[in-house]
Amino acid sequence: MSPVTLSSLAALAALTLVSAQSTFPPTPLASKTFAYPTGIPYMVDTDQGLIRGFQKGYNICNGTTQNQDSLCQTSFMNSIDDFCLWAPSEPDSLVANTEGEMVAWCTKPGHGTRLIPEGALTGVQFIKTPAYVAVIGFVDQAKINIAAGTFGGEMDPHGADLRGNPMGGLVYSNSFSGGGSNFQQVIEWHNFMGGGAFCMKACDPANPDAAHFCEHRLDRIGCNFNVPNNAQNGTFESCDGENQDFPGVYTVNGQVMTYTQPPEDQGAIQTMPYTARVPATSNCVQKSSTELYAALATVTAASGSSSASVSGSGASASVTKSGSSSKPTSGTASATGSAASGSATSNEAATLAISGVSLLGVVFSALFLS
Ligand SMILES: *[C@@H]1O[C@H](CO)[C@@H](O)[C@H](O)[C@H]1NC(C)=O
Ligand SMILES: *[C@@H]1O[C@H](CO)[C@@H](O)[C@H](O)[C@H]1NC(C)=O
Repeated sequence: MSPVTLSSLAALAALTLVSAQSTFPPTPLASKTFAYPTGIPYMVDTDQGLIRGFQKGYNICNGTTQNQDSLCQTSFMNSIDDFCLWAPSEPDSLVANTEGEMVAWCTKPGHGTRLIPEGALTGVQFIKTPAYVAVIGFVDQAKINIAAGTFGGEMDPHGADLRGNPMGGLVYSNSFSGGGSNFQQVIEWHNFMGGGAFCMKACDPANPDAAHFCEHRLDRIGCNFNVPNNAQNGTFESCDGENQDFPGVYTVNGQVMTYTQPPEDQGAIQTMPYTARVPATSNCVQKSSTELYAALATVTAASGSSSASVSGSGASASVTKSGSSSKPTSGTASATGSAASGSATSNEAATLAISGVSLLGVVFSALFLS
């Protein structure tokens, strides 16, 4: 072999090596644990040179970072009056384009994050079950920087490249550790945002089925399948609840079935073979939003979003093409950011990570709230 050929081979080998190494971090986000507060590093995702770039914000959050420009990516899930959602840092963003960079927006000061502006939440149900806590609700999403009238996607600590969406995002809760300031890191969680609604579930780290209750592969079928609920727009209530079935698992005529989400390149999901069972709730306590979110009274949305209307309504059952974003909505979408599991080959994952988006089928919009 000529030296030239040898060196080209070496270059090729090096390239292959680099591209194989530059997608996945040495440690997946879901395997990184940090005690609150002293164990938390400034940034959780410090791996250099990976395909999706750098963590957007930071994880040490305090009085200095408590403002509406905060890039805090440490989130909380405690109670109906003390939870955070993941949302974009810049106005008028699409979830699909920003899922890797979302920041925490909370209902209460004290976590060093942005606050959800007054009036953005129009109905919220918080549910505590033996296995998880979940919050489901209705939101004027333009007030938290999600473009009005657009449908969204799923954030979770996995993602195609295992760096999480958002990358480096952490979630803590006092729900499984005795309340107060005993904040415990939640390893498995998922958060769906878009279509004027949201749901966020944090699974008890001590529950052996936490990863199943907080499944991260069904990113196109929204809240009604991942967090089946009876939240009502206009009602704010906190309830006890029974556990749901694992997302994607359902029973027909006594037979337990498992739903598999089709790959996005097969086009929009037109029909679902089941309706998820809504688990019973009890001991619901209703309050007014002003009682719950008094601290938000002074926080107004920066983006002048009050005139924005939700076109086409995320709750409608229409399956006609309604423009979930400025991107193509069906067959041309090639990737989904969070559907892949850890078994994805690096090649697939690299493709997913490079495209960096999870375009959602039109049916997602119909199913999200219907
Ligand atoms: C507050 O948070 C910022 C951003 O993470 C950090 O740079 C700063 O050191 C923190 N301040 C204190 C007193 O911990
Ligand atoms: C929820 O109710 C508010 C009015 O309180 C309305 O503006 C909004 O469109 C409703 N959201 C959905 C998704 O139906």
